[in-house]
Parts: sequence; structure tokens; C-alpha cells
Amino acid sequence: MSIGRIGLIIGMIFTLFSCVETENAKIQAGEIFKDTDGNPINAHGGGILLHEGTYYWYGEIKQGETWRVPYLEWECYRCKAGGVNCYSSKDLVNWKNEGVALTAVKADTTHDLHTSKVIERPKVIYNDKTQKFVMWMHIDSEDYQYARAGVAISDNPQGPYTYIQSMRPNGAMSRDLTLFKDEDGKAYHFYSSENNKTMHVSLLNDEYTAPSGTFKRILEMESREAPAVWKHEGKYYMISSGCTGWSPNPAQISICDSVMGNWKTVYDPCVGQNSKKTYFSQSTYVLPNPNRKGEYIYMGDRWNKTNLEDSRYVWLPLTFENGKAKIEWQKEWSID
Ligand code: DGJ
Repeated sequence: MSIGRIGLIIGMIFTLFSCVETENAKIQAGEIFKDTDGNPINAHGGGILLHEGTYYWYGEIKQGETWRVPYLEWECYRCKAGGVNCYSSKDLVNWKNEGVALTAVKADTTHDLHTSKVIERPKVIYNDKTQKFVMWMHIDSEDYQYARAGVAISDNPQGPYTYIQSMRPNGAMSRDLTLFKDEDGKAYHFYSSENNKTMHVSLLNDEYTAPSGTFKRILEMESREAPAVWKHEGKYYMISSGCTGWSPNPAQISICDSVMGNWKTVYDPCVGQNSKKTYFSQSTYVLPNPNRKGEYIYMGDRWNKTNLEDSRYVWLPLTFENGKAKIEWQKEWSID
């Protein structure tokens, strides 16, 4: 074969490889997760929606300089609110960037979504009756005293989402939040309330866009935040963190027989080295592992408080042993 021909073949192989998308095979806990274009995934404090066989990952865009709010005693590090990103995946390891699902507002300084505000922990559920995708998120002022929940809707999972309004649900403060949609179609909003001392669980209206008016105070005076809720063998489970800003602390599992029942905090599911710091992470979501029945994926954020853009993701297997939830560190693991 002539040298020219060999060169041509090598060139073709090179072109083929450079066109192939970045492929991930395993979860690398605590590392930068890359999307299929090879760019770092920017979706913090996130949540997952499974819709018609595709997973959608929504999370906070953390971009640009991080600074400490000078007039606050506590370590209030922040960066400009960047809105909410969306990524999609069929296998939970290869994520396609679907772009910005909810855009931050640049001009109107009074708007809830203005870049000077806080837009955190977006979660999306699908309403089968209205056929709308409904996003709830923590909306706050830079000093975290606004303490409200914001709602946005879209006709498509990836957005764009239209912001409706923010509120203090049931007249109470709402900071860290999550959504939980039960098998009967009822949906609930869990939020750290009463100055983060007590959590509330609030049944949403039929459209999932506002509180129904039925709510319950739970985990009274336990000071829990970063809630993630799932159902396992007929019981409801929550993992949450303590309230230490961006710094990690021990996780706790709370359990209940019904969503609006009497939640009890029972144990720390993490075992082994660094378990008391939740492996330097804070909970954000728990998803059933589609390949292993009865097993779940713990999703957490490893915040870098002085450079929030560089915060990482800690995803770990959450298993049940003798009826007890357990999370163990694994640097690299495979979902299937
Ligand atoms: C802890 C919360 O869980 C985060 O979402 C964020 O609000 C930080 N506090 C801010 O310090």
C-alpha cells in the first residue's frame, strides 16, 4: 500500500474518532462529570426526572467568581444566580446538554430570577392531567432572608420554563426543597422552614403549581436541610443534611409509613471513612437504580465554597441491608 494511502486511512480513522462523542462508562464519585460534548456538567443541587424512557437532570448553573457576602457573620459564599441547566440521558452516565431550561434575568433587579438572587435546588415533576412539566426551586435574596419557593412550567421536559411566581408556602419560610410524586399522582413539596429549624411537607394542588393548603410540620426542631425523598417497599424515606452552610456534615435517614405521617429520624446511612461528612457531600436526590431492583443512587453535591463553579458530584450506590439503608464510598462504580 502506498504511503499516501496509509496516510489517508490514518486521517480517516482520526476524523472518525474526533467525531465520536465523549463516552462515559462509570460513575466517578467526587470527580468532574463530563457531558457528551466533553464539557463539565453544570447542574448543582439537582434533581432527576424520568420521562418516557429518558432521564432529565436539572441543576443550578454555578458560573463565575465566588465571593463572600461581607455584612453576614456566617460563611455566605455565593456566585451570580445562573438559572437552571438541563441534561438528558438514557443510561445515567452519558449526559447530553439540553441547554438552559430556566434563564436568569439580567435587567430587572427586582425579579426573583435576577442574577443577584439565589436560585437553588430545582426539581421537576410531570403533571399527567395538565401535561405540563413543573419546576420548583428555592428562591432567595443574597442574605437568604427572602426564603421562598418559586414555580415554573413548560410543555417540554428540557424547557424553556416559564416562571410563574414565588411564595411562602402555607405562609411559612421555604429554603432547601424537594418534590416527591407518589404512585397515586399526588405530589408533595418538602421544604426547610421556620428558619431551617423544622421541615414542612405540603400537598400540592392538582396542577402541582401551588400548595393545596394541606401541610404538616415534620422533623420539628431537628434543623435538617437538603431533603431527598423516595419510596422503598411501601415506606417513605428521606435523606437530609444538617445545617452547616456549604460545609459537609452527617446525613440522616428519616422514615414514615405515609407521606404526611409522623416522620422519624433514625440513623446515618453512611459507613466507613469520611462517613460523618457524607464523603464530603450534601444530599440532593435519590433515584431508583434502573438496573438493580431495590437499589438506589444517592446523588450529592461536593461544594467548593470558595469556588462554587468547581463544585463536584458525589453519586454512590444506596442499598438496603436487613431493611436498613446503607451508603458506602466507591470511587468508581458501574450503574449496571
Ligand atoms: C446549604 C444548602 O443546602 C445549599 O443549597 C445552600 O443554600 C447553602 N446552604 C448556602 O450556604
